[in-house]
Amino acid sequence: MSEGKYRALWLEGESLIVIDQTKLPFSYETKRLTTSTDAVHAIKDMTVRGAGVIGSVAAFGVYLAALECQGNLEKIEILAQRIRSARPTAVNLMWAVDRMLKVLESANSPQEIIATAHQEAIAISDEDALGSQKIGEFGCDVIAKIAEQKGGKTVNILTHCNAGWLAIVDRGSALAPMYEARDRGIDIHVWVDETRPRNQGANLTAWELGQSQIPHTLIADNTGGLLMQYGKVDLCIVGTDRVTRSGDVANKIGTYLKALAAYDNQVPFYVALPSSTFDMQVSDGVKEIEIETRSADEVLYMQGLLASGDIGQVRVAPIETPALNYGFDVTPARLVTGLITERGICAANEAAISSMFPDLLS
Ligand code: MRU
Repeated sequence: MSEGKYRALWLEGESLIVIDQTKLPFSYETKRLTTSTDAVHAIKDMTVRGAGVIGSVAAFGVYLAALECQGNLEKIEILAQRIRSARPTAVNLMWAVDRMLKVLESANSPQEIIATAHQEAIAISDEDALGSQKIGEFGCDVIAKIAEQKGGKTVNILTHCNAGWLAIVDRGSALAPMYEARDRGIDIHVWVDETRPRNQGANLTAWELGQSQIPHTLIADNTGGLLMQYGKVDLCIVGTDRVTRSGDVANKIGTYLKALAAYDNQVPFYVALPSSTFDMQVSDGVKEIEIETRSADEVLYMQGLLASGDIGQVRVAPIETPALNYGFDVTPARLVTGLITERGICAANEAAISSMFPDLLS
């Protein structure tokens, strides 16, 4: 079901194969993960990115830990905690590890522990795939309505960062409605924020959309506001790394500014997510969600294709200039038009979230 030829990850015997996202769009390479430490590194160094895929790699990481420890639960738990703390913001990581450990507790023998870990990791990944299909369908209904209001003219959608099939198995979250719109024959065009400093928009979203023949234009991160003032954005759809029970949304740095501009220009601002991205333990996103601080070098240097044909980095600031690099920000619920989930579109507030997802409250 994934776009083009690939899925973001797959099992090969007792190894997990992932696409090396640090090399895209210049080179398509895969990495073989054979230990839980490999999984930790893949998450930490951004070989894999995006909340859902991080969750799936974490789940398979626990399976690799089970193999390494020959089904010894105490040892698995120690390795699982390392996976759990590989990155702080995307809650799918913690959710996937906790879910894995919970099912392993009820297995009765080392062999059963390994078999259960294998099964549960596949289930987590497959559930994401089913969920993203539904997110695509519900999100596309919103696009279809706008297309109708516009008399069939092109619907312009703005997105930030990457929330396609490289980020959520198997069609993505924010991009899933766009893939569905293409399948339904709705005319769309996507404004792709470059998403500095790591350029997930330029490197990953533009690559995904290009592979799928979806018309798109790359824009500098600060262009969205002007496009909205010009009436060139019909709606925004972004993904998310964590949504609180009150509907606050943590997503890639810069999302909040897009939401403010959308609000000021009456442009609908939707957030697409699988239910595994809700964190019902927290309410106030700004105060309670830990925002990852990343290396200053990601701001001071840009990675790209050098004239030599190699992938390399160039410095973009004076040698003595310091930099600050927060990876994510929080968009308050009041700026969010709706949450596109696998169960339908939900208002971004505690009552609506609790009534659509009562099972998450326990
Ligand atoms: O820091 P990254 O590259 O892992 O960022 C993750 C993302 O792709 C997003 O923030 C995305 O918009 C939401 S995750 C589907």
